[in-house]
Amino acid sequence: MAPDVAHTPQEEVEEIEFHLLLEAIFSRYGYDLRGYAPASLRRRVLAVLAKSGLGNLGELQHRLLSDPSLFADVLDDLTVHVSELFRDPGFFRVFRERVVPVLRTYPLVKIWHCGCGTGEEVYSSAIVLSETSLYERTQIYATDVSPGALDAAREGVYSTEQVETFAENYARAGGVGKLSDYCTDGYGRIALKEPLRKNVLFFQHDLVSDQVFGEMHVVFCRNVLIYFGHDLKSRVLAKLARSLCPGGFLCLGSSERLARPGEWGFTEFAADVSIYRR
Ligand SMILES: C[S@@+](CC[C@H](N)C(=O)[O-])C[C@H]1O[C@@H](n2cnc3c(N)ncnc32)[C@H](O)[C@@H]1O
Repeated sequence: MAPDVAHTPQEEVEEIEFHLLLEAIFSRYGYDLRGYAPASLRRRVLAVLAKSGLGNLGELQHRLLSDPSLFADVLDDLTVHVSELFRDPGFFRVFRERVVPVLRTYPLVKIWHCGCGTGEEVYSSAIVLSETSLYERTQIYATDVSPGALDAAREGVYSTEQVETFAENYARAGGVGKLSDYCTDGYGRIALKEPLRKNVLFFQHDLVSDQVFGEMHVVFCRNVLIYFGHDLKSRVLAKLARSLCPGGFLCLGSSERLARPGEWGFTEFAADVSIYRR
């Protein structure tokens, strides 16, 4: 593959090694990072190289091919897991006030959080569903490609450093109680309470290569597509459209938009907070 940007001979070599590394990861482990947005992925690969203490990407490739446990750690480093409870409160307010009333018309609700990261988004929606008396008839699937992120999501334990932000987000999202009602705290950490996990299934799923499950009423795919290149983004959006039942909701991140309304059969529902309807 021709280098995307190459200035010096050394950069040109690095660019070739970068593409070879992605091919090697795909051949050896089946994770296909080749369609990710190259500039940000390259930055993360170079950060992994710096952390490894190895001399160049060729050496890193050799180590990764021969050491599956190292690869598991590297996969966690190559994916970005930044999140917050009630991240983008305006989104969660619209979810509560406009999406939940529609969901209420279904006897059973199925929600898929793909790219759920470390779980904050899943617990946020579980809290909204509890406060609107919908949680008991909802099944939530929470998936991510990264095993490390999924472990953290299952645990649901977060640093108290951000607790004020979380509580403000919760209030701005229309929360009717106190965030502290849903967690216990101690030793600088808050732990989300067990009942919020009751109807959640956490498991590994790769949006690039795995099939999707059908008949979802809501798919959250927030702040995931930004890491994908244009073609991969289109392929994944087509998969998400297939996963939703007619009338189902697609929730994207605040900086993620469909290029054209009507794409993959979606119409705008609340385009200002990136909610679309199939
Ligand atoms: C920034 S986090 C978003 C977390 C949460 N959705 C939010 O908005 O706060 C992006 C997540 O996408 C996941 N991800 C990246 N590539 C993926 C793929 N191919 N399949 C599934 N998840 C993926 C990463 O592991 C990471 O946890």
